[in-house]
Amino acid sequence: MDKRPVGMFDSGVGGLTVLKQFRRLLPEENVIYFADTAHVPIGDRSREELILFVRQILDFMQEQGVKAVLFACNTTSAIVLNRVKDDYPFPMIGTIRAGVKEAVRQTQNKRIGVIATNNTVKSHAFASFIQMEDVGYQTVELGCPKLVPLIEAGQTEGETVEKAVAEYLDAIKEKKADTLILGCTHYPFLSRIITEMAGENMHIVDPALETSKEMAGLLREKNLLNQSGTPGWVQFYASGDPEAFQKSADKLIPHYVKNVKHQSWD
Ligand code: DGL
Repeated sequence: MDKRPVGMFDSGVGGLTVLKQFRRLLPEENVIYFADTAHVPIGDRSREELILFVRQILDFMQEQGVKAVLFACNTTSAIVLNRVKDDYPFPMIGTIRAGVKEAVRQTQNKRIGVIATNNTVKSHAFASFIQMEDVGYQTVELGCPKLVPLIEAGQTEGETVEKAVAEYLDAIKEKKADTLILGCTHYPFLSRIITEMAGENMHIVDPALETSKEMAGLLREKNLLNQSGTPGWVQFYASGDPEAFQKSADKLIPHYVKNVKHQSWD
């Protein structure tokens, strides 16, 4: 039994979609959630910047005494995880593998669409993992840079959002994908609109639950589970203005984020 917290981070509110699933699955775990809002959006940042940002967060997580870290962000899961995972004393997982496994289970025509940040798309992390499952799969990866700024602003409905989602989904539908991975942790906040516009024949995959299950398996295997019998706590940090983070989180999941502390290195 291990009461140390699990670290989780994202560039902003996106990782909250993972945090929610994780807390449902493992309510006894304590969590440190870090929102790197000083740097959001990270979808077009350079590789060097992304590595630097993540190292700063992981150093901080280490100081906080975490027992494991979940990258609640596809962009850094795709680009940074492999570069840093052996440099820290705790295990780490990202969101890509679990999302792919679920999509492969769902697809019937072996055509999988992925919507993600430009950086994730350029890395082809999803396509590579999908190819590893079976070379017969086709992957259609599409960068959707308009979505994260809208979601960070708490905007998940209305004409601007609908227009952007429609434009992106048309490109995916044209390629006849029957399964769509929400390859950015911000996008599940748009799942109502995405599901509606994708049509009933499209399987929508949010990697959050499968990633949380993967973390649960890892903690169990390494004997790190917290089985205290009492609900765990979450401590939120933001590298930008803590109140601004709290406000945009409140628009998306009212009353979920509380007592945000400021932490930055710039
Ligand atoms: N939520 C992040 C992801 O899953 C990144 C969002 C961004 O800052 O562009 O990729």
